[in-house]
Parts: sequence; C-alpha cells; structure tokens
Amino acid sequence: MKAPVRVTVTGAAGNISYSILFRIAAGNMLGPDQPVILQCLEIPPAMGALNGVVMELNDCAFPLLHDIVATDDANVGFKDADFALLVGAMPRKKGMLRKDLLTANSKIFSAQGKAINDNAKEDCRVLVVGNPANTNALITMANAPKIKHGNITAMTRLDHNRAISQLADKTGVASTDIKKMTIWGNHSATQYPDISQTTVDGKDATTLVDTDWYRDDFIPKVQQRGAAIIEARGASSAASAASAAIDHMRDWALGTAEGDWVSMAIPSDGSYGVPEGLIYSYPVTCSGGEYSIVQDLPIDEFSRERMDATANELSEEQDDVKDLL
Ligand code: NAI
Repeated sequence: MKAPVRVTVTGAAGNISYSILFRIAAGNMLGPDQPVILQCLEIPPAMGALNGVVMELNDCAFPLLHDIVATDDANVGFKDADFALLVGAMPRKKGMLRKDLLTANSKIFSAQGKAINDNAKEDCRVLVVGNPANTNALITMANAPKIKHGNITAMTRLDHNRAISQLADKTGVASTDIKKMTIWGNHSATQYPDISQTTVDGKDATTLVDTDWYRDDFIPKVQQRGAAIIEARGASSAASAASAAIDHMRDWALGTAEGDWVSMAIPSDGSYGVPEGLIYSYPVTCSGGEYSIVQDLPIDEFSRERMDATANELSEEQDDVKDLL
C-alpha cells in the first residue's frame, strides 16, 4: 500500500465539497491504490456543519481514507498538503458586480496563498474552483512564491465537459467519442469553447455540425450553462463542478489519455499570444504529474478574436487586483 497523501479542501462544508470529499475518499481522484488524508478547511460559523460532513465521511468507512482533519485555521488546513482544492469563496450576492466579488474574494485568496506558501509541500498541486477562479488563482500564486511555478491552476474543466456533452448530444455519439475539445481563456461568459480541432468518432467535428449551430447555439450555451443551472435548480452547479474538479486533478496526477487533451487554466507562458502570467485556459496533455500546453494548433481569425477577448477580460481583472499581486 502506498503512503497516504494529504489533500486539502477549502469550503469543505459547502455544496461542491459535499460531493467532492466523498469522491476523493472513494479513490476517484488519485486512484484505487492511493490512500488519502483529508484536510477540511472552513470558516468558524460553518464548523458545526463541517463536523456533520466529517461524521458522514466516517460513516462511509472508506478503505482509502486514513484520517480527516477539520479546522478553521488555514495553517493547519494546508499543513504538508500534496494537493489543495480551493473551493471556498464568497458567493455572488444579488446586485453584486463581478468587480465587487473580485474584491471580496481577493482577500480570501491572498490569505490562503500565504498559508499555502508557509505550510504546504513545495510541489503541492493547487486547483482553484471558487470564483472568479482564474483571477483568484493569480492572487494565490502571487502570494505563494515558494510553490513550484505552474502548480497553481484554475478550473475550466466543467466548461470543457459541458462542451463535450453538448457536442455529443448534437452528433448522437457517446461523450467518449469526442476528443480534443478546447476551452480557451477565462471561466466566465467570455470563455471560448473551440471545436476547430475536435473529432467526433474520429471525424472532424466542423464537418458534422453547421457553422450557425456552432456559433449561435453551441458557444453561447456552453458560456451560459452555469446561469441555466442556477435558473433550473435555484442553486449553482455543485455535483458537476465537483466531478470536473476530480477530473482536473486526476488527469494532472495520473495523465491524460493517448490521442486526447483536456482544458486547464494555467499561468500563461506567452503561448498563442496570450500575455504571460495570466491564468488562461489552454489545451494541455498531462504525463508524469506534469502538464504541457498543446502547441502549434492553427488559429483562424474567428478563434483569434475570441481568444483575445477573453484574454482582455483577464487582463482587466488582473488590473482590478493589482495591489494584491
Ligand atoms: P457554497 O456557498 O455552498 O460553499 C462555499 C463554502 O465556502 C461555505 O461553506 C463557506 O463557509 C466556505 N468559505 C467561505 N470563505 C471561506 C474561507 N475563507 N475559507 C474556507 N472556507 C470558506 O458554494 P459552492 O456551491 O460549494 O461553490 C463554491 C465556489 O465554487 C463558488 O465560488 C462558486 O462560484 C464556485 N464554482 C466554480 C465553478 C467553476 O467551474 N470554476 C463551478 C461552480 C461553482
């Protein structure tokens, strides 16, 4: 049996975590032979609810779950962490602008970045889920200089999975028949779901769907899916977001399938003309616990405009939080 690894989850009493923690403990994230210690971080008012979640985790008697830490102290929560999923964030309230949300959450992520820097392993792999995820990851990274460069990432895997599901439904295939989907940019309505390189059962996706459907139906549907879920459910996506976070971490740790890639928001190295340093979603392959950007894909004018628009939004967000970087 391998030695257990430490996985920190913040916002551990919230909706997404109510799914994520059980999936991690069941072995869905790191495989069926990797024991885990869950380190659950919350704020003081949520500690009662968190204790209930811990009771339920214990009641599952998961063979891979070696220990659980429940705390409201970030220094304890991130102690020796190998993986950290930053889910906890202030939700967007009625009438709140994206900028207000940024300001509120920037304080949380600068403090947590420092706590990660001071306590986590230097090769800790971090996924930011709490919104605005890309810029929260940027703030976390700026406050955690000791953590290996590139190891602080943000989640666009839910958008990636949503895009696969929409295209599979349209073309009448299983989701596993869709390969090489890409989400470029920000986890926001400016994201660019790109099917120009996607294959459907081995065939070029663009030859199977008409351009009007792709541009006027598919792209906005993927971009607005989060809002559609809130409208239908009266609450934001939780189980699907948890599932996407598991997918992101699993592929990063264990590798992507041969002949396919996934979307991850990572610090830009300038690839595809994206300003260096922004946390931007790219197509990546993963192997040996490392990711690399898929290079040299052809970019037409339609794609260029959309990739630049979402980069511009990220640059504006970066500007709004520059005091914390
Ligand atoms: P929730 O409101 O149910 O849970 C959030 C939890 O975070 C609460 O229990 C709260 O007490 C906790 N929290 C707040 N500040 C904290 C701090 N400083 N340290 C530790 N815990 C803290 O929200 P839910 O539904 O679980 O969503 C969490 C976040 O994920 C939200 O920001 C949401 O917008 C985002 N999200 C991101 C998606 C993505 O694709 N990137 C998809 C869906 C949601």
